[in-house]
Amino acid sequence: MSSPDGRNTVILQTHDGRLYYSMTRDKRPLLMPSMLGFAFKDAPPLRDSLAITDSARATHDETWTQPWGEVARVRDHHNELAVTVQEQAAPNRTFTVRVRVFNDGLGFRYELPKQSALDSLVITDELTEFTFADNPKAWWIASNRPRLDRSEQLFSSSPLSTLDSVQTPLTLEGTDGHTFLVIHEADLENYARMFLAGARMESHTLRAALAPLADGVKVRATTPFNTPWRTIQIADKVTDLAPSVLGLNLNPPNVLSSTDWIKPMKYVGIWWGMHLGVNTWASGPKHGATTVNAKKMIDFAAANGFGGVLVEGWNTGWDGDWIKNREAFSFTQSYPDYDLAEVARYAKSKGVRLIVHNETSGGIQNYERQMDSAFTLYQSLGLDAIKTGYVTDGTSEGHSHYSQFMARHYRHVVEEAAKHHIGVDAHEPMHDTGERRTYPNFMSREGARGQEYNAWSGDGGNPPEHETILFFTRLLDGPMDFTPGIFDILERSSGHAHQPFEPRVRTTIAKQLALYVVIYSPLQMAADLPENYANHPEFQFIKDVAVDWDTTRVIDGKIGDYVIVARRQRGSQNWFLGAITDEQPRTFDISLSFLESSAGSPSPDRERGTGGEVHPGKLYVADIYADGPKANWLDNPFPVTITHRSVTSASRLHVVLAPGGGQAIRIRPAK
Ligand code: NOJ
Ligand code: CA
Repeated sequence: MSSPDGRNTVILQTHDGRLYYSMTRDKRPLLMPSMLGFAFKDAPPLRDSLAITDSARATHDETWTQPWGEVARVRDHHNELAVTVQEQAAPNRTFTVRVRVFNDGLGFRYELPKQSALDSLVITDELTEFTFADNPKAWWIASNRPRLDRSEQLFSSSPLSTLDSVQTPLTLEGTDGHTFLVIHEADLENYARMFLAGARMESHTLRAALAPLADGVKVRATTPFNTPWRTIQIADKVTDLAPSVLGLNLNPPNVLSSTDWIKPMKYVGIWWGMHLGVNTWASGPKHGATTVNAKKMIDFAAANGFGGVLVEGWNTGWDGDWIKNREAFSFTQSYPDYDLAEVARYAKSKGVRLIVHNETSGGIQNYERQMDSAFTLYQSLGLDAIKTGYVTDGTSEGHSHYSQFMARHYRHVVEEAAKHHIGVDAHEPMHDTGERRTYPNFMSREGARGQEYNAWSGDGGNPPEHETILFFTRLLDGPMDFTPGIFDILERSSGHAHQPFEPRVRTTIAKQLALYVVIYSPLQMAADLPENYANHPEFQFIKDVAVDWDTTRVIDGKIGDYVIVARRQRGSQNWFLGAITDEQPRTFDISLSFLESSAGSPSPDRERGTGGEVHPGKLYVADIYADGPKANWLDNPFPVTITHRSVTSASRLHVVLAPGGGQAIRIRPAK
């Protein structure tokens, strides 16, 4: 079966009784025959003596609209092949592999129909392999290191043949320099998260490795049963990897009857002060979440046009060790110095949405027990957004953070939240497999090393290259609540006595601005303490920048080196451009020809705008926030030069980035 453009071809075949898939692009092999199947507890593997008994083909072409996103319109154009196999020996079990081949990649999943020989199943291993023709360079984070419960790690790169055990999305850069592959999964609902394990030294094979339940088993299920999709995104150029819509197309459509209550927004909060140590989540003299502080933060949000205020540490349970005491968190009971109802009332009166924090520390039963009463309370107070947290090394029940148990939990939370018209921003989440298409109230997640590591990581924080890797790896799976916008780069406001440069943020201020465009999230925090924005004219960019987009264009980029992204604000003619670099200074000469692309103009088939009309030669004003003279992340991170100039789609911009620097630009129609 080939993709609509004929370039990608998938072959399913049996050989010596085993089922294999392989893939070519432009007739060149990308994936060699790779095995499919399962291993079970107390039953023989479903792998041998297989024969193809049936196959069916279909084709699909539909364009759908996202309630919010990196692009407004998404085209789902694919050809489908469903191949059914059956064991030719007892117990004669059968399953189907459904493959969808798109121009930008493919997805396949297993479908296990109801059958007496395969009624309830206990999966000990999924035998899916990915055998590459090439030995591409992989950009990876490990899945078998300490704190394997999280994805909060720095990325490494090395040839595929050296990989041990890694997380997805896994981005692979072909040795030819023009084949990029991303291995991931879509629609993870009632299954274990998939990691990828290297098979053996010098092998080009990766194997699915599922996160375990407490007893070591991977998945318990009853037929009929479908696995998540295993996805392989393909692009000729690294800049074509984003925005990635393959996983969205493999998730079921939105099930919510209304989505108008789900609002992308920027927010501020009682948050960074805790990470700096000037405030505490726990009760005491430095308690951050007081009614007085919350009202001040609401005033700050209202005065600067931010939609939301996050308050952490408002609820009882933070005193002592949060992980040991995780059964003690209450999600309804506030500390005596915080009046939830009064803060909610005040926020509403100022037109600001309060984001309620729910740190579970992995006490899943404790949270699930309280969820309905908590969400009912929040809804009754008009609160429609929560930030959840799972700071833990495994759940209180002993399951892996990424087990089937947790996949079901995260799905349960988002479903329950939807019933109460509550949007979710999950920290320490399950990795994103495109659930936001089905549940658009699943707005954002963390799931990578965010800004918080610059406050306390003890390992020097995030290096200047970090976000240039994130963009082409983790961010391909979905939005990230990175929390950009730290202006007090040296964290002088922390009051901590520390080494001159540690802890601190390893960027220039201009790069902090650019991150609002580069890192996509419909919830975007202005993370610093309000006082650190005073007397900074460049704060204007954070006030102006949009969080919801019609169109996204990756103008240039190289994994680990730099990224330049332009995005058009949803339903508007404003464009925003963000450019970031690693520790190297760089200059670019950028064409603004993208300004011509609006509704009606030719555009790639996976993104079509809905904004304004095309006016070639139309005059715009560019508000440019550039690294100032001699700026660099190491010892001169503060200078920002703000200029304004007239531009048209025929203009070119000379973009100069300092070491560890960036540039942020708003381009708006001239009056
Ligand atoms: C880790 C989260 O990433 C952070 O945002 C939060 O403040 C703490 N956990 C406490 O819940
Ligand atoms: Ca975190």
